[in-house]
Amino acid sequence: MVQPMGISDCIERRRSIRKYIKNKKLTESQIVSLLDAARLAPSSSNRQDWEMVLVEEPAVKEELIEACDKQTFVGDCSMFIAGISTAEHEWSETDVAIALEHIALKAVQMDLGTCWIGAFDKDEISRILNIPKNKELVICMTLGFPEKTPSPTTRKDLTQLIIRNGY
Ligand SMILES: Cc1cc2nc3c(=O)[nH]c(=O)nc-3n(C[C@H](O)[C@H](O)[C@H](O)COP(=O)(O)O)c2cc1C
Repeated sequence: MVQPMGISDCIERRRSIRKYIKNKKLTESQIVSLLDAARLAPSSSNRQDWEMVLVEEPAVKEELIEACDKQTFVGDCSMFIAGISTAEHEWSETDVAIALEHIALKAVQMDLGTCWIGAFDKDEISRILNIPKNKELVICMTLGFPEKTPSPTTRKDLTQLIIRNGY
């Protein structure tokens, strides 16, 4: 039996995927596995004050391209995910981001790919997706079958990032 990819491999192999097999449909079981990874994410005081709007309809994804700074791959992905916080508190945006990163890592294990989408017009996406005024669109993500996986991008050295035992 083939073992599922371990967490270290998922972390190392994840790339931002900006080229997808156009509109290839995810199976329901793939969708459930990915969403369950998000459901199991930690959240502040376990409030789970988030929701995700999933868009698979090609015509709606097409409309979202313009609202996402004309990033055309938004129209090609299998699923566009809008991450929403449902209650305003200090950690609400963090909680949405953690849940989406769980999806990003689970996707690698399933030979799928994602790209965070931060370049978007919040009002425009909220309008297209009918997001209620009392809920806040935080961040988005594309998800799909990678057609092209880019080379790794550079990272800073740990010495530039980590301060041990305080400054
Ligand atoms: C909050 C956030 C917003 C991002 N927004 C976009 C975006 O709008 N479009 C895009 O192509 N990539 C976007 N990215 C992806 C980053 O450019 C990418 O993660 C970074 O260049 C490192 O590359 P890698 O993900 O392949 O390791 C975003 C990433 C994050 C975390």
